[in-house]
Amino acid sequence: MPGIAVIGAQWGDEGKGKVVDALAHDADRVVRFSGGANAGHTVVVGEETFKLHHLPCGVLHDRPTSVLGAGMVIDPWTFLSELDAFAERRDPGTVRIASEAHLVLPHHKRNDEGGGFVGTTGRGIGPAYSDKARRLGLRAGDLADEDRLRERLERLLAGKPNSTARVGWTDVSVAMEALEEVRARIAPFVGDAGAEVRAALAAGERVLFEGGQGTMLDLGYGTYPYVTSSHPTVGGILTGAGVSHKALDTSIGVVKAFATRVGHGPFPTEIDDPALATRLRGTGSNPWDEYGTTTGRARRVGWLDLAQLRYACEINGFDGLVVTKLDVLSGMDRLKVCVAYDASGAPVWTELPGWGDLHGLGTRAALPSAVTDYLDLIEEVAGVPVTMFSTSPDRADTYGEVRWDRA
Ligand code: IMP
Repeated sequence: MPGIAVIGAQWGDEGKGKVVDALAHDADRVVRFSGGANAGHTVVVGEETFKLHHLPCGVLHDRPTSVLGAGMVIDPWTFLSELDAFAERRDPGTVRIASEAHLVLPHHKRNDEGGGFVGTTGRGIGPAYSDKARRLGLRAGDLADEDRLRERLERLLAGKPNSTARVGWTDVSVAMEALEEVRARIAPFVGDAGAEVRAALAAGERVLFEGGQGTMLDLGYGTYPYVTSSHPTVGGILTGAGVSHKALDTSIGVVKAFATRVGHGPFPTEIDDPALATRLRGTGSNPWDEYGTTTGRARRVGWLDLAQLRYACEINGFDGLVVTKLDVLSGMDRLKVCVAYDASGAPVWTELPGWGDLHGLGTRAALPSAVTDYLDLIEEVAGVPVTMFSTSPDRADTYGEVRWDRA
């Protein structure tokens, strides 16, 4: 069963969009399995830049069906406006929403305003998953059945009278009316998407599982409590897409050549020097600079943390790594890399020489030895081969490939 997973190996924003987009070209189905509008993939196609939040990268290609899986939380209003805006530029093709996916509702967004101590994206993600766990949530499938929707709303309003009243949902009829328009528009997308994915896999179709966020933001295995409320790791695919472990042939980890994180929480290799941090972050003048796709927040930046990467490799069982943004490190004299943590949890550093401009080298053999040494160190500490890396935003500067026939 040819299923490939592409997973963020750090704190999200590793450049997964580029890899997913390349694989989506030949995929039959592209499946998101966790998170919601907190995700943001920036994909550059020719002269055009697309920023996707709910929609899987499959929408950028003619062939694949795009699936929003059961493990997601979907904001129906922003999903529809994202779809409408996309449809003005391109045909999104077939889009399916799992009936089990939960809905992000106005009180979720209201309760997530300001981002709290975690520094969330403010998209209502945590509160929506919280209602799911409390059995108070509304699911996409509920929209298609008026009686069931009414019953679920009754339970929600009784369970959370203050939160729902604060957004004007004072009784079920008001809530039904507020949902009226999205109900009619969303219902046609909703179905047993998990069964469809399983059938597709059984028929030998190519299914790409598109990760959002990153391993260190996993609710269980990330830097809790500074995490998202879902499981963006390989483990999340099984429950979030409704498939078994047999669906996965290959798991690819995407890792940036340095590290970033948005929001609060531990970041052992964070760079304190403001000038150096700005140098790596960029000014925000191009889509690759280190500013959140979803919130526009400046990302915190740090050196590559291989102790963290090795952990991500263990958690996800990566078969290969894709290293992105090596060019951003061009022009630095020395590069620091964390290779382990000491007994107190502080990084143990090694230093490597930097490299110059990496544009247009043409072949892997032409790469400066400093780059090859950097990649060798990654492979050695992480224990996983680097199957692909990029040395500029240009497609021609992508070396190696992740291919379906490996699967
Ligand atoms: P939430 O997912 O909005 O609840 O935010 C929880 C934490 O995850 C915050 O630190 C966010 O900045 C971070 N986060 C959520 N989604 C992403 C993402 O797609 N990229 C990077 N960080 C994210």
